[in-house]
Parts: sequence; C-alpha cells; structure tokens
Amino acid sequence: MSQSTTIRWEQDETGVVTLVLDDPDQSANTMNQAFRTSIAAVADRAEAEKDSIRGFVYTSAKKTFFAGGDLKDMMKAGPADARRIFEAGMEMKRALRRIETLGKPVVAAINGAALGGGYEIALASHHRIALDAPGSRIGLPEVTLGLLPGGGGVARTVRLMGIADALLKVLLQGTQYSPRRALENGLVHEVAATREDMIAKARAFIDAHPESQQPWDAPGHKIPGGTPAHPKFAANLPAFPANLKKQINGAPYPAPRNILAAAVEGSQVDFETALTIESRYFTELVTGQTAKNMIQAFFFDLQAVNSGASRPKGVAPREVRKVAVLGAGMMGAGIAYSCARAGLDVVLKDVSAEAAEKGKAYSVKLLDKALSRGRTTEAQRDELLARIAPTADPADLAGCDAVIEAVFEDTALKHKVFQEIQEVVEPDALLCSNTSTLPITLLAEGVERPADFVGLHFFSPVDKMPLVEIIKGERTGDEALARAFDLVRRINKTPIVVNDSRGFFTSRVIGRFINEGVAMVGEGVEPVSVEQAAAQAGYPAKVLSLMDELTLTLPRKIRNETRRAIEEAGGSWQEHPADAVIDRMVDEFGRTGRSGGAGFYDYDEEGRRQGLWPGLREHFGSAGSAAVPFDDMKERMLFSEALDTVRCLEEGVLTSVADANIGSIMGIGFPAWTGGVLQYINGYEGGLSGFVARARELAERYGERFQPPALLLEKAERGETFSD
Ligand code: NAI
Repeated sequence: MSQSTTIRWEQDETGVVTLVLDDPDQSANTMNQAFRTSIAAVADRAEAEKDSIRGFVYTSAKKTFFAGGDLKDMMKAGPADARRIFEAGMEMKRALRRIETLGKPVVAAINGAALGGGYEIALASHHRIALDAPGSRIGLPEVTLGLLPGGGGVARTVRLMGIADALLKVLLQGTQYSPRRALENGLVHEVAATREDMIAKARAFIDAHPESQQPWDAPGHKIPGGTPAHPKFAANLPAFPANLKKQINGAPYPAPRNILAAAVEGSQVDFETALTIESRYFTELVTGQTAKNMIQAFFFDLQAVNSGASRPKGVAPREVRKVAVLGAGMMGAGIAYSCARAGLDVVLKDVSAEAAEKGKAYSVKLLDKALSRGRTTEAQRDELLARIAPTADPADLAGCDAVIEAVFEDTALKHKVFQEIQEVVEPDALLCSNTSTLPITLLAEGVERPADFVGLHFFSPVDKMPLVEIIKGERTGDEALARAFDLVRRINKTPIVVNDSRGFFTSRVIGRFINEGVAMVGEGVEPVSVEQAAAQAGYPAKVLSLMDELTLTLPRKIRNETRRAIEEAGGSWQEHPADAVIDRMVDEFGRTGRSGGAGFYDYDEEGRRQGLWPGLREHFGSAGSAAVPFDDMKERMLFSEALDTVRCLEEGVLTSVADANIGSIMGIGFPAWTGGVLQYINGYEGGLSGFVARARELAERYGERFQPPALLLEKAERGETFSD
C-alpha cells in the first residue's frame, strides 16, 4: 500500500487478507490520524477488490495488539476541538463499519493486550480469537480515565451481550480481563495457545463462514435482555454495585453517566444512529476537564511514580530475598501476605508462637476466599503459605535482608524490637518501620545503622490498598531509599517518597479533611448534610463515619504531641475549630468512635453503624445549615486538603507533584475525578488564579486556614501550574 500506512495489507493466494497493524513511527499502535487514514484506505481497497477477497484477519506486528487512543492529544482537547474530534471519530467508525458489513468474514487475531481502541477493532470483527499470552489484557477501561469507548465499543457491547452485562462486565468498571477470563465472560470467542494456532483458527473460521456478518446486522436481531425505556434504569437494578450507583447518582463523574446514557439511548435506535450518539457523549467527555484530570493522574502521574521518578538516581538495584515482618497484628499480617504473594520468603515474628500463627492465619483466610472464588488454585495457595514462617524466636530471622516493623505504636518498643534483631539479620539488611505517626528520624536513633533506616507506611487493609508512603528520615541514605522503593515495586505496590515530618504527607493531609467536616458540626451544620457534602464531592468515605473509624481520641493524642513539639521549638500553636468539637464529644458525652460503641454515629452491640447520633443537633445546634451553602461545604473539604498539600511542597515534605496526586487518590481517598490534590488546583475553574480567589473567599468566611500559601500565589502570579 501507499506511503506511511499504519496497516499493512498482506493478501495470500487463497484470498485471505491479513491486515497487519504496525505503526512505523511508534512502539505501539494508537488511534491517531495516521491510523484513521489507513483504515479508510483499507476500506476503499476492500470495496474495490471485493471479488478477489475471501476474508480479513486483523492482527498486529507489535507486542500489544493495539494500545488505544492518543492520550497526549486528548490532554490538549478543549471545547473548540469538539467538532474535529466528533468528525474524526465518526470517520474511523465508518471505515471499520464498511469492512464489517462487506459480507466477508472478519476475524480479530488478538496477539497481545487489546484495551480500549484495540478491543473496539476486535468488536468490529465477526470472530475474536485471543492469544493466551502472559500479562495480556482485554477490555474497555476508558471509564477509569473519565472517558467512554468512542470507537463503537458501547454500541457493539450492548448488542453483543445486552445492556446489563455490557454495563456491568465491560463498560462501567473498565475491567481488564486475561484472555481466559475474556473468554468466560463472552468478550472473545476463542483462546489460542500459540500464534500459529491463532492464525489456523482464524483461517478455519473464514473457511467455515464465507458470508459472515455481525449478529446485529442479521435480520430480526434483538438486543439480549431487551431495551429499557428509562436511562437511569441500571442505577435501580438491585444487582448494581453500590459504588457505581453512587457515581452515577451523586458524585461528579460524568463518564459513568454518559456511558449509561449512550448505552440506553443507543439501544433504542438503529446501529448507525447508536454510533453517532456514542460519539456525541464521547466528545463531551474528551473536551471536558474531568477526563484531563484522570488521564493526568492515572496515566501520566502513575507512570512517573511507578517508573521511579522519585527513586534516587544511580543506585544499582539489589534484590530482596527474605523479609522479616515484626509484629503479626493487623498490619504485619497484611504485609506478610503481600510479600509472600509477590514470591518473597517471609519470617513473621510476634511475642508468642500463637500470635505469629494468628498473623499467618490471615493469609489462610484470604487465600481460602480466593480459592472459593476460583481466583487461585490449591497448589498456588499452598506454595504461598509455605513462604510464610511464623515464629517468636529472633534467631529465626537469620538471613533476612529486609525488616519491616509493625509492632504497637510506641517509640521505646520499636527501639527495643530493632535492638533484638539487628545482630541476627544480614549485616546490611534494609530496616523499615510501618509507623503511622512517629518521626522516622527519632526511630532511627534506636538502631545502629540509621542510614539503612526508612519509613514504609502501608495502608489498611494492606492486601487491597495499592499505596505505600516511603519516608526519608534525616539520616536515611540514598541506597536505603532506593532499596525501599524497589521492595515496594517488587510487591506490586505504588511507592511515593516524602521527607520526614509530623503525619508525613498522607496522615497530615487527610486530617485536614476530617477536621473540616467535624468543624462544620460545631458550626451547627446538619450532620447529614456534612456527610452528603463529602459523598457528593466524590470522597469514597463519609467524613464523620471516617472519624468514628479512626477514633476520636487519636486526633487528640496527635494534637497534644504536635502542640508540645511546636511550643518546645518556640512556635505558637493554632487551634482548629474541630478541636473543641472533639473535646466535647469525648469529655462531655463519652463518645470516642466506633471502637468505643458510640461516636458521631450510634452503633449496635455488634459494632454495626446505625444512624447519626441525634444528640449532635441538640448539643451543637442547627443554625449552620442556613449559614454554610452546600458548595462551600464540599469545597471546604477539598480546599483544606489542597492548600495543606501546597504547604507540604513549600516545606519540602513533598518533592514531587505526581507523588502528591497519586498519594492523595490511592492513599487517602481524595476524589479521583480531580486527578489528585494538586491537579485539582490546576483544573479548578479559572486555573490557579481562580483557585486563589476562591480560597480567599473561604478564608474570609471560615478562617485564616484557607489563606493561599506563598507558593500558590507565586505560581498563580507567574501563570504556572503544578507539574514536575
Ligand atoms: P496491632 O495491635 O494489630 O498489632 C501489633 C502487633 O505487634 C501485635 O500482634 C503484638 O503482639 C505485636 N508485638 C508487640 N510487641 C512485640 C514484640 N516485641 N515483638 C514482636 N511483635 C510484637 O497493630 P497494627 O494496627 O497492626 O499497627 C502496627 C503498626 O502499624 C503501628 O505502628 C501502627 O501505628 C502502624 N500502622 C497502622 C495502621 C492501621 O490502619 N492500623 C496503618 C498504618 C500503620
């Protein structure tokens, strides 16, 4: 074919045309202008040479089948580009459609990952065969970037599997399936063991179906399960996951809503109109701010963080083989499981053999559950469990080249357990503490090799939470920092790196969110409105229920310690309006949170949350609801975290914008639609200047804590954004 095509036309003597996706200018195929031009040229040629063609096979010359849309391009798309984007999408879909409806069999030979646009090409084929390559993934993850599949993915999955399955299995959660799971869930027709096998299967399909067509192009085709009349029908299905209902009903995620609308509206019209509807909803998303925020966070920032932007340069990697976990409580048990799952040997130590066994039993519980759901095999379960050795004897730690301490939160005890083991483990073992509040620099005073000592702050539950905050103490060396970074990556978690400071980054900033919610109760804002404001701002946890979970005595303890430290250093302590509310809750009403049986909520005997405590209104009044507009409630929470993150940058606690964005979403539940705590400022209406103006307004109404820090003012002045 002609000039710089991204699709090679390879026709054999039997008339089978292999369409080889192979962009010469990139390492992976993407849905760019060159591809759109090529696919249109393929459609022209296919129509012109129809009589000599028996069928088509899409496959790729790259490691992946097709990588999806051009995200860099999408980051630049503003409302003025809407027409161009809509037309480009339609042009590509028309070309795929011409090939799909030519009357010749079309097969997708999916030789590697087919996510987004790649799977949409496969959907425009009559038969889909996936190569069972390790790590290969299939699906439409657009929703996780604030987008919808605009290449026919909505229209075709709805017609293929019915609206409910299309929404739940493919579109709304963006699930990425392994080839085998894609087969089980009806995303592909066959799985092939080898490339040769895949091509043979493709040819067999073409031989057996000389006049193939899509099910939806057959006369009388009906959408499986029927077509509902109401666009919100899915949100009312009993089986619809609660988190999706929440996204669709309240929080500011336009993508799930647009997906739902495109699916339901598209199901009520002919196929071509459905494609147009889908493109309209896609265009709206891609030209809006939320998709840019989410692409920035979940593609660019996440890649920067995981690829080691914050790892000290020039330190050669050194493999960890055997990890000692000290303390087999809630955190230690989870850390042991995560390490063993990644293939590391673990010695799990507690004060008694029973306590250590109990920690290991947590892995047994998780694995049995996975086994019952078919997510692991008996052999894999046994292999993993064999890697965890519970013990109470420090001598069993011999040979460990990394130590992760997770005993009670007590400086003297932490010093003692390191003393106990530092002669037993490898002489240069990496030493980590999972403390949640104690300064790393202080803890390092208790070990003989402070340069090898680092904070490794996991989140609970460890097996589910993807983030680990690495804390560099004053004496932590680059070597230890790099090793800690590599260890976190080795156990498949995402590491952010921060400098030692009270509460580090995550605990400090989430404290602002909680304080703001609690302060509003003190102002007499209806507690249920405070909870709604958090939910509608997009927070995964409501603020007062989160406070109850953490227990109200914890912020008091931290406050007293911080106050003492600040005053000892000659500084002056700033009260927060939340302090008085917490003091009254604890001292006057004896309500310390869920573990104490009563907090902002009431609890039943089993600790199950009941309603908000009616006493809140009685004791804190109800005048605030009228005084604090709902938008202010939401923005007080978001701004308090964003402003304190800027202060963390100013103070050098944070050194990377990507770390801040990823840490805030993955560690402390800052709403994902914002793209993270600093991207929220970048994307705020009016940019940084708009954010500054709004912060000043909040400061005037609610207190000096909302005054924009100097760094923010400077950046706004210079017309900059927060970026690395
Ligand atoms: P936990 O109370 O569940 O477990 C502590 C374990 O340490 C107990 O099993 C205890 O028997 C054991 N232990 C005490 N002395 C020991 C010794 N001399 N040698 C070996 N083991 C000993 O506590 P949890 O929640 O697991 O917390 C552990 C650490 O992790 C604390 O520093 C905590 O601040 C921190 N952390 C906790 C988080 C959470 O959400 N609970 C989150 C992040 C960090």
